[in-house]
Amino acid sequence: TPKGSCLESVKIAIDTGYRHIDGAFVYYNEHEVGQAIREKIAEGKIKREDIFYCGKLWNTCHPPELVRPTLEKTLKILQLDYVDLYIIELPMAFKPGDAIYPKDENGKFIYHETDLCATWEAMEACKDAGLAKSIGVSNFNRRQLEMILNKPGLKYKPVSNQVECHPYFTQPKLLEFCRQHDIVIVGYSPLGTSRDETWVNVSSPPLLKDPVLNAIGKKYKKTAAQVALRFSIQRGVVVIPKSFNSQRIRENFQIFDFSLTEKEMKEIEALNKNVRYVELLM
Ligand code: A2P
Repeated sequence: TPKGSCLESVKIAIDTGYRHIDGAFVYYNEHEVGQAIREKIAEGKIKREDIFYCGKLWNTCHPPELVRPTLEKTLKILQLDYVDLYIIELPMAFKPGDAIYPKDENGKFIYHETDLCATWEAMEACKDAGLAKSIGVSNFNRRQLEMILNKPGLKYKPVSNQVECHPYFTQPKLLEFCRQHDIVIVGYSPLGTSRDETWVNVSSPPLLKDPVLNAIGKKYKKTAAQVALRFSIQRGVVVIPKSFNSQRIRENFQIFDFSLTEKEMKEIEALNKNVRYVELLM
């Protein structure tokens, strides 16, 4: 995204009422996010404690000794004292080093064997040090969650698991498992992604063109996007829609003045195709 557009968008979002901001070192715009938050605090619009910032531990930083320095680097970029949530971005590791996507001479990813439980213990230490208020995971399946939950001497459970979740990929089994364990599901790509072919399976049809979502939207004078977001929050899934467009940033916040009936919720649930847009083939 063009330089500065993230700064502007985060400021518009905060003015609109958003408080949860989902970021990551690998988005290369954490400096702009931090600047937006700090400017809004300086303006008196918000206090630091009003904001819920989520940062992420990248794949090249899984060895336990790298976890805290990596979070400290993120805090330095943000120019904040703590993140509200720090999560392991993916359950698999790449070779540590400067390359974000390390590849060998044949263009194959260079993986790295690490112990997720050891990484988790280093995450726990970050919480104890006050650098992260809460810790969680992302893209973990049930088996990977169980590995952490069953770890001998576990100090803190993951508070959340960020995974793809929307009407075409409703995650019923994982959602139920996480509910049983008090783990919040944070749904990424809640609008069906930007359909960028470099990382999205575009053979799956566009979510926002769905006739059911559009028909239900018509009834409430809402867009398919608003219906999709409302559906997720109404089933207890946190949503993190992405937009760098001021009108759509505002549109995506106008979802608290209507509610879907049980029948409509069921109708939307039935759209599930069990096909993900973000295949994470690496
Ligand atoms: P833009 O940034 O130009 O608004 P997801 O949150 O599922 O990853 O989807 C993000 C994509 O959806 C982006 O391409 C974003 O584009 C677009 N988008 C965001 N909000 C809306 C909306 N209300 N209606 C249509 N498209 C939207």
